Amino acid sequence: MKLIRIAIDGPASSGKSTVAKIIAKNLDYTYLDTGAMYRSATYLALKNGLGEKDVNAILDQLAEHPISFGRAEDGSQTVFVGDQDVTLAIRQNDVTNNVSWVSALPEIREELVNQQRRIAEGSAIIMDGRDIGTVVLPDAELKIFLIASVEERAERRFKENQEKGIESDFETLKEEIAARDYKDSHRKLSPLKAADDAITFDTTGVSIEGVVNFIQEKAEKMIDMN
Ligand code: DC
Repeated sequence: MKLIRIAIDGPASSGKSTVAKIIAKNLDYTYLDTGAMYRSATYLALKNGLGEKDVNAILDQLAEHPISFGRAEDGSQTVFVGDQDVTLAIRQNDVTNNVSWVSALPEIREELVNQQRRIAEGSAIIMDGRDIGTVVLPDAELKIFLIASVEERAERRFKENQEKGIESDFETLKEEIAARDYKDSHRKLSPLKAADDAITFDTTGVSIEGVVNFIQEKAEKMIDMN
C-alpha cells in the first residue's frame, strides 16, 4: 500500500481541521494541525509580553518550551508547549487575534516549517494549514483547498466556541474572520493561496460527511493505486 501525504489548506474555519482529523482516523494517518503550532508560538509571545521586534526571544521561548501533541482521554488531540497543556488557551480570543502577526514573521515560519517537515518525514500524514500545498509539502500527493462563505464560517466558529465555553459575538466573529482572511492572504511570505495543482472545494452548505467523503475517496484511490 502506498503511503501518501495529504495537504489541506484554506481560510479560517473552512472546516480543514474537522475533516482532516476524521480522515486521519479513518485511514490511520498522522494528523498535524499546523495552525496550532502558530497559535502556540503566539501564546508564548503574549505570555512573555513579546512583540514583532522580539522575534529572537519568541524563538528562544519555542526552543525552551517545544511544541508537542498528545491525546486526551476522549481521544481528542491536545497541544503542549514544554510540559504545559495549552489546548484551550491557544483557542482564546487574545491568541486568535494576534496569530496573524506572529505567523507573518519569517524566522518563526522558517522554524515551524522545518518542524512540520520533520514530522512529515517518512510518515503517512494529513496536514492542515495555509501553506502546506505551496510551501511545506509542495510535492504532497493530494492537495485540497477548502473554501466557504464568511457567513457560514462565522456560524461554524460561533458553534465551536459555544461548545468550548468561549464567549463570542456573531458579528464580531464575522469581522475577525474576514480580517484574518485578508491578513493571511496578503502577507508577503507564504500567503494563503491554493497551490496550482490543488483541488479547490467549496464547503458552503456541504456537510462534514460530504467533505470527508470527497477527500477520502480521492485519497483511497491514490493509496490503492500502488
Ligand atoms: O488554522 P488556524 O485558524 O488555527 O490557524 C491560525 C493562524 O495561523 C492563521 O490565521 C494563520 C496561521 N497559519 C499559517 O500562517 N500557516 C499555517 N500553515 C497554519 C496557520
